[in-house]
Amino acid sequence: MIARDIKVDNLEISHLDKRPLEDLVDAQNKIFADYIIPLKSSVQFFQDFTRSVGGNIEDVIVAVHNGAIVGYVNPIVDDKEAWIGGLGVIPEYRGSGIGKRLMRAAEEDVRERGAEEILLEVIDGNTPALNLYHNLGYTERRTYLSAEGQSARFAGFGPAPERGRLEDVEESHRLIYTDNCWQRRKSAALAESGRTCETYAVDGGFVMLRRAGTTGFIPFIGVLPDMRRRGVGTSLAKFAINRLWELGAFKIAIYNVNDDMATRRMLDKFDFAVTLKQFEMKKSIR
Ligand SMILES: CC(C)(COP(=O)(O)OP(=O)(O)OC[C@H]1O[C@@H](n2cnc3c(N)ncnc32)[C@H](O)[C@@H]1OP(=O)(O)O)[C@@H](O)C(=O)NCCC(=O)NCCS
Repeated sequence: MIARDIKVDNLEISHLDKRPLEDLVDAQNKIFADYIIPLKSSVQFFQDFTRSVGGNIEDVIVAVHNGAIVGYVNPIVDDKEAWIGGLGVIPEYRGSGIGKRLMRAAEEDVRERGAEEILLEVIDGNTPALNLYHNLGYTERRTYLSAEGQSARFAGFGPAPERGRLEDVEESHRLIYTDNCWQRRKSAALAESGRTCETYAVDGGFVMLRRAGTTGFIPFIGVLPDMRRRGVGTSLAKFAINRLWELGAFKIAIYNVNDDMATRRMLDKFDFAVTLKQFEMKKSIR
């Protein structure tokens, strides 16, 4: 493999420091051009993303070779939990141990900042990353799904949810996702979504939705733990699918829902097909 021939002896691993953010984003775009879901970032997108998950650009760690960024890791600390908000090595430098060194640097860094465990997410089928994480001692904790379906006209979805404000659903969001690190961290993402989404609430649950072009998105849908198994989720889903139909969306995408029986049933019920599976992995670094 060509990558193994590259001399990376004088590789420098450090915080981003004064390096221009453009250089990091350029490296990211090389890293994720051949990704399972090809991604194209921009300085603005990366700043917004990092902020929305509670991170700081200054905490990004980069691998630099001959003056160029060839890899990066974005460690985020949330009290005793840390989360890896991105890791990658540009294709020509893969297989030379850089990914492992970046992860070790991130672990050291978040431990110093008080974290006792690290969580990260990896897409099912990303063998290099899965192997890397397994090698470093990470284990799968839960699985998330992304799915796609179609909007549809529904009548009779039960009590119509009322238009709610972000403040009204924040507490429900916290209770619904209370045992779930990544989703909890999404409180900042919830606030971001609140700016662009329609928010609706019923007694016991809420849903957020938005249309972009012909696609509808449901970034948040949830039912309070003690209100489950009463059809609230089905009503909310019908309402959201119908509302997106009214708004002119054709396709509907949902991301990062728990892979459990209840969710699978709901997806089946509305003919949503799973498009992506992600594992949440965890390691204790105490
Ligand atoms: C995942 C990624 C960061 C690994 O970086 P890397 O520098 O190539 O990895 P390393 O050379 O440090 O390899 C460390 C371990 O990863 C695993 N690994 C790396 N490349 C692999 C490959 N092509 N196939 C299988 N396992 C691989 C191995 O377990 C390896 O350990 P070993 O060499 O002792 O067997 C890199 O492939 C990448 O940037 N991929 C695209 C972006 C991405 O998927 N990011 C992670 C998102 S969760």
